[in-house]
Amino acid sequence: MSVLPAHVLEEIRELPDKYPQHRSAVMPALDLAQEELGYLTPEAMSEVATALQLDPGYVEGVATFYTLFHLKPIGKHMFYVCTNLSCMLRGANAIVDHLKGAIGVHEDGEVSKDGLFSYEEVECLGACEFAPMMRLDHRFHYDLTPGKIDALLAERRQSPSPPRAEGQGEAREPAPRPRKRTKKSG
Ligand code: FES
Repeated sequence: MSVLPAHVLEEIRELPDKYPQHRSAVMPALDLAQEELGYLTPEAMSEVATALQLDPGYVEGVATFYTLFHLKPIGKHMFYVCTNLSCMLRGANAIVDHLKGAIGVHEDGEVSKDGLFSYEEVECLGACEFAPMMRLDHRFHYDLTPGKIDALLAERRQSPSPPRAEGQGEAREPAPRPRKRTKKSG
């Protein structure tokens, strides 16, 4: 039995015709699978590969390369907080600390007890003039303050609608794929 429902597999099978290079369909296909399941299981990646007639190793390689794809469960709402230079200079670390306290997690990737939230520190999202900023699900939010974080959390707790359905936020351009911040060791 498939882990992905028939209508999702059908949608995935239709994707290659939309791209000059058929294998370019792999990212939107993985996006659909993740949207359905919350994260990408080995079975889901294998079904995506079969639906796109691609090598399973290639599909897995794409899924593991991009941090927007999650290989373990995440919260229903994901905060991608930029902690690169401009945001850091304007208080991103304090924003991260506030967020961690507010959702009750200790580290990047941990899911809040109610299953609603998790966060990740990411590299520059290209909106430095509005620092500190973040992406919440599919929307950008700018000039962050602890109060703004609290208001967003309260909104999501009151009506935890699916991320794709949210209509609020301050996106002024299509949100790029976040790149995970790599911490230097030592
Ligand atoms: S440094 Fe945060 S958006 Fe550029």
